[in-house]
Amino acid sequence: MSDEERKMAENSKPEPVGETRPVGQEEGGREVLLDLAGFEVYLKPGGGLRFGEGVVGPEPDLRTKDDARDVCLYPHGDGPPVLYRMYRGTGEASVQRTMEREGIRYDITVLSPGKVGSEYVKTVGHIHPVAPGGMWTYPEVYQVLYGKAHFLLQRGGELSGEVEDFAVADFEAGDILIVWPNYGHVTVNPGDSYLVMANFVARNFKSIYDPIRQRKGLAYYNVEHKDQSIFIPNDNYSRHPRPRLIKPRDWHEFGLERGTSMYSLWKSGRARMDFLTDPARYREVWAREGIRPL
Ligand SMILES: [Fe+2]
Repeated sequence: MSDEERKMAENSKPEPVGETRPVGQEEGGREVLLDLAGFEVYLKPGGGLRFGEGVVGPEPDLRTKDDARDVCLYPHGDGPPVLYRMYRGTGEASVQRTMEREGIRYDITVLSPGKVGSEYVKTVGHIHPVAPGGMWTYPEVYQVLYGKAHFLLQRGGELSGEVEDFAVADFEAGDILIVWPNYGHVTVNPGDSYLVMANFVARNFKSIYDPIRQRKGLAYYNVEHKDQSIFIPNDNYSRHPRPRLIKPRDWHEFGLERGTSMYSLWKSGRARMDFLTDPARYREVWAREGIRPL
């Protein structure tokens, strides 16, 4: 990014938001039932979750501004102190055995509204390890439960390599995003309410954070400039393929439909999640999407 671009982005720095305004104002200070979750769970005005009877309610893992400093465009910019809360391994107690047997987990993450400097609140980003068979990293599936999301997917760029592809999904509640095999990912909250998203993912792998941390983020930063969401290239990469748009769609291959709770579809047996643990079985699906093996 040139100095001028950086100055433009800095000049557009908005009023600080987050803890400096009544948090949860957009929800009218009341809890919101997250009906797309597929079981009883509420978003509290401060950004926490409250779980209903018979639901596993894990303690949240918090990510603060300090935790994210390494990957932010403005590491010392103002912003909400808690960027996001991860509730890993939730869902009804009655289905936990089935999830274990299938090797999957259901998580909910809440991203605060606001910006760090002029960059929208985002997750720190990671890549997934390679699944058995060697050609595909583990995929993941997300559904937006509340608010707005920008999902950023990037292929390549690990340490010495360069980025081959960069894709952005501009999604709303009900929309479903598959993190393709062999892509790293970051989620951004470009809205002015909390963003709540759920994911199913294989339960037995550890995400890899270093490659994205060492490059100080993905190949682009999603910032607000003159009230618009724009993408600024990250200078720590030498190639910046033009971001392409991912359109919201159903994933009939896996029994997933936009607007319908993916948890409910899975629980009723209409959606399958074995692509998360055995991506090689679905190589034809990935090929149709234009996703190459490693
Ligand atoms: Fe992930």
